[in-house]
Amino acid sequence: IFNQGNTAERTALIVANAGTLNDGTPITHGIPVVGASYDDGVALSQAGSTAHVFVPAPELRPQKNVIAEKTGVNDDNVVMAGAHLDSVEAGPGINDNGSGSAALIEIAQNLSKLEPQNTIRLAWWAAEEDGLLGSEAYVAGLSQEEQDRIALYLNFDMVASPNYIFMVYDGDESGWLAPAGVPIPDGSVAIEKLFESYYTSVGEPYDDAQFSGRSDYDAFIRVGIPAGGLFTGAEVQKTEEQVSIWGGVAGESYDQCYHQACDTIANVNEHAFDVNVDAIATAVLAYSYSTESVNG
Ligand code: PHE
Ligand code: ZN
Ligand code: ZN
Ligand code: ZN
Repeated sequence: IFNQGNTAERTALIVANAGTLNDGTPITHGIPVVGASYDDGVALSQAGSTAHVFVPAPELRPQKNVIAEKTGVNDDNVVMAGAHLDSVEAGPGINDNGSGSAALIEIAQNLSKLEPQNTIRLAWWAAEEDGLLGSEAYVAGLSQEEQDRIALYLNFDMVASPNYIFMVYDGDESGWLAPAGVPIPDGSVAIEKLFESYYTSVGEPYDDAQFSGRSDYDAFIRVGIPAGGLFTGAEVQKTEEQVSIWGGVAGESYDQCYHQACDTIANVNEHAFDVNVDAIATAVLAYSYSTESVNG
């Protein structure tokens, strides 16, 4: 999803959640705000300021989560991995998020070779772009007992950006969730470390990604399930320093086709995808044997 990026945008979202559009359309949670402009981003928090929020015609196609599970010897310990299967309406969404979805399909195809100790549950989420609706509904539908069975959640959203950098969700820091009082669950650091040591073992450099609240890990973190995952960048521009580490083009977005019609099969960096599919498989395999490093 694209919002919550900075203070001005977040303030606008709060205004929108509470109100109606100029034409009287009520704004409800989950309607995507595709663009917004502000009379003055700083003054927006003051009474009487105005936010102009542009909302597309609501999409009426139903979407469903797809969940697949391989039962382990210990079915009371579930390792979850998820990727959102939807795209924005503007384009086919191959990097965002055909990349994460395909990585999990590759893992699913190989699960027949495995007699896992822990149960492995894969999720292809619906309606992420409409406000994390699929993953939120899934977690909200779990009883406390069902939540307690989940050892950890791994998220894969945009893992093959054309102008990539390798990023691992930072289990130490909580990005914008921190002010909202949502702590990152213990165990998330261990997940971060596993991915970091994988990158190190294959000689690939990495950096932190913040848990910004912009993808499907959000609902899991909010109920205290340790989470982690990989990200190769969206609309933010690559710096000179990052080019010296990963190559690519400085001053261009990690994904110049983010949320656009050009997010096609050509919009994938095959090296990044290859490295990340292996990283994802390694993590799922490791946690299928044991989640002790995460859950103690
Ligand atoms: N979830 C965002 C999207 O689908 C992409 C994103 C992922 C942005 C992680 C920031 C961090 O559009
Ligand atoms: Zn997206
Ligand atoms: Zn996405
Ligand atoms: Zn860290």
